[in-house]
Amino acid sequence: MDVMKVVEERQGENFRLHSRYLNPKLVQVLKTIGFDRYYVRGAGCYLYDADGQEYLDFLSGFGVYALGRSHPVVKQALHDAIDADLPNLVQMDCGLLPGLLAEQLVSRSHEGIRRAFLCNSGAEAIEAAIKFSRHATKRSRVLYCDHAYHGLTVGALSLNGGKEFRSGFGPFLPGTGSVPIGDLDALERELRAGDVAAFVFEPIQGKGVHEAPEGYWPAAQALCRRHGALMVADEVQTGLGRTGRFFCHEHWDLRPDIITVSKALSGGFVPVGAMLCTEKVSASVYSSMDRALVHSSTFGSNALAMVAGLATLQVFDDEDIVKGAQRSGELLFEALRPLVERYELLHEVRGKGLMIGLEFGKPASRALRMRWNAMERIRPGLFSQLVVVPLFHHYRILTQVAADSVNIVKLLPPLITGEREIDHFVNALTGVMDDAHGGSSFYVDFGRTMARGAMRRDRS
Ligand SMILES: Cc1ncc(COP(=O)(O)O)c(C=O)c1O
Repeated sequence: MDVMKVVEERQGENFRLHSRYLNPKLVQVLKTIGFDRYYVRGAGCYLYDADGQEYLDFLSGFGVYALGRSHPVVKQALHDAIDADLPNLVQMDCGLLPGLLAEQLVSRSHEGIRRAFLCNSGAEAIEAAIKFSRHATKRSRVLYCDHAYHGLTVGALSLNGGKEFRSGFGPFLPGTGSVPIGDLDALERELRAGDVAAFVFEPIQGKGVHEAPEGYWPAAQALCRRHGALMVADEVQTGLGRTGRFFCHEHWDLRPDIITVSKALSGGFVPVGAMLCTEKVSASVYSSMDRALVHSSTFGSNALAMVAGLATLQVFDDEDIVKGAQRSGELLFEALRPLVERYELLHEVRGKGLMIGLEFGKPASRALRMRWNAMERIRPGLFSQLVVVPLFHHYRILTQVAADSVNIVKLLPPLITGEREIDHFVNALTGVMDDAHGGSSFYVDFGRTMARGAMRRDRS
């Protein structure tokens, strides 16, 4: 098969094929907002479309491209692994590569973490965390935070704080329940019954980039310990340097019993996930020879994922990726925070490292407020689209709205983002904000983009 010949021959058919065979509604969304590009290449912080236009990728595949796209070291390792005809997925065997990746992950965790379970995605790591914590504690209940996002398989969805994701898919796992993030009394009320296996949390929430008040996480950990519940830190998005530390929970010196990782671990090339846990938790599940395969996943230790993971972690060390993310995060925050004073529509810049939320809100002045109210009446959260769409169309920067129906834009730039990318983004945001605070042409322009998109959508 000449893959590049096929790609060249069918170039530009992507939206038609998705409409026909995959998810036509997604095609409609992308056409409506004019995001229907045909990308042909990705390198570093940038994507390139068929017309040779360059796009700054501040979405990084939902956080997968920590190292940027097409990192040469990971690519070379994968080429080498394929060419070596490695004995992959023998199954009744213990391969070297999974052992090496587990060794790397454990050695980068706090000293209580001793074992790894390797899998293929964030949700699969969460499913493992639910099962392992239930088994280890002999308890059934699992707590999660309001607004949480831990994936969309049924177990993970049972811990999902978003109605839009849950609706119509119930009933969910019995014994799962949410607590408001930051509310220690609510957490203790739930824990006191003594039947909670685990409290699963994102150290910074992906949906909306919500942070707990200072002091909450250490106090929550102490409560969990006191009541015999396990702490499960879901680091699928926040892990691997995203917030300026290797794991985000290191900001508060937490010692979770279980840590889940995925996204950035394979440099964006191969699906991969891992659940890291204490020896006690692991030994409870794999407690006898009869139970040696009681939790497993056919592709969980596949050689390409392991090689990509090992190469990615080596690049983390060689290029000092975590330090770089911390530095770039500081530069970006320094540039963005003063904009809150300057623009009444921008209410808050929050997050850590290179996980940043820009929250927009009702402006003080009357003329702007009327426009804001009109938009909120059309659709709550519409203003955030007014930011994301011109960032893309006028400045060719890819960003996302942070959750359904909220005026929060999330930035997840590659961790290799440097001054050039930061300057470009800050100039672009300033331009969009100047326009949004200026005359009505900005809003008319947005309406026009939507109308054009709707026409393209309906024609296709
Ligand atoms: C914190 C968190 N946990 C779990 C998941 C689920 O990961 P996946 O989409 O790989 O199943 C995500 C995905 O965005 C996530 O952000």
